[in-house]
Amino acid sequence: MKILIATDKPFAEEAREKILKVIRKGGHEALLLEGYKSKQELLSTVGQADAMIVRSDIVDAEVLDAAVNLKIVVRAGAGYDNVDCTYARDKGVVVMNTPGQNANAVAELAIGLAIYGIREFYSGKAGRELRGRTLGLHGFGYVARNVFRIARALGMKVVVYTRFSREAAAAIGLKVTHSLEDLYSKSDVVSIHVPAKGEHIRSVSYPVLKELRKGALIINTARKEVVNEADLVRFMEERPDVKYLTDIEPDNKEIFREKFAGRYYATPKKLGAQTAEANTNAGVAAAEQIVDFFLTGDTTCQVNK
Ligand code: 3PG
Repeated sequence: MKILIATDKPFAEEAREKILKVIRKGGHEALLLEGYKSKQELLSTVGQADAMIVRSDIVDAEVLDAAVNLKIVVRAGAGYDNVDCTYARDKGVVVMNTPGQNANAVAELAIGLAIYGIREFYSGKAGRELRGRTLGLHGFGYVARNVFRIARALGMKVVVYTRFSREAAAAIGLKVTHSLEDLYSKSDVVSIHVPAKGEHIRSVSYPVLKELRKGALIINTARKEVVNEADLVRFMEERPDVKYLTDIEPDNKEIFREKFAGRYYATPKKLGAQTAEANTNAGVAAAEQIVDFFLTGDTTCQVNK
């Protein structure tokens, strides 16, 4: 089978080598399309592929229609909002992700952003410390659990709001708040870890934000869609004490840059999962899942059943 690695944002070299090894050992052929400059390049290559490994690359109806031999696409990472899962299912294409594989990298970035924010963007101005402050985890998936582990080592208190992982959080002694407003009202630092779907879309809204403690930091390493941007702008205008640090630029990034200089920061490109380790973990898992799928029909990580 031909397995296409289509990554606008290339994997680290050591990860790529390991991914290629897994593909070849499984008896398959690897096709490489890295750092492509246009969708057309993807459209003209994807027709050869029986399987595809992507990152945040857009796999929409047009791509799926052009992928006439495609049986499976694996998103090497957690969020699969870049793949039209329903259209893929209708076409009989299996979609998978690689849950948890890049979680530590994203968690380390979230904590890094929190430190950068609380130390006044390393400007030389006196900052504050994270120790003793309360971190609110908005969501409790793999990334949030890693953030929790690191935050505890820093001496932070941690609270969480989750609807689906309440028992897992309570089991390790984490206080689960009864609402999102309640979480934000207890937080000096909020770290967002929910996917861009369903009830999470624009869930970071004015009624929730207005509860934040004085001097709060909002850290977003999830998706821009989970934030109600207009509400965040209004809130930051009213509250000059708060800061927003994000790994995903808002749609209206110019507004944020102009209005909130010194308390807004965005990474130049989404880089939460951009480490050699995360690339290796997620990329190798993706390749192994494809090899297993063709060998045994394993669909354990399928997200479009
Ligand atoms: C994910 O959902 O796994 C992260 O957002 C990483 O995305 P990336 O592979 O584009 O870095």
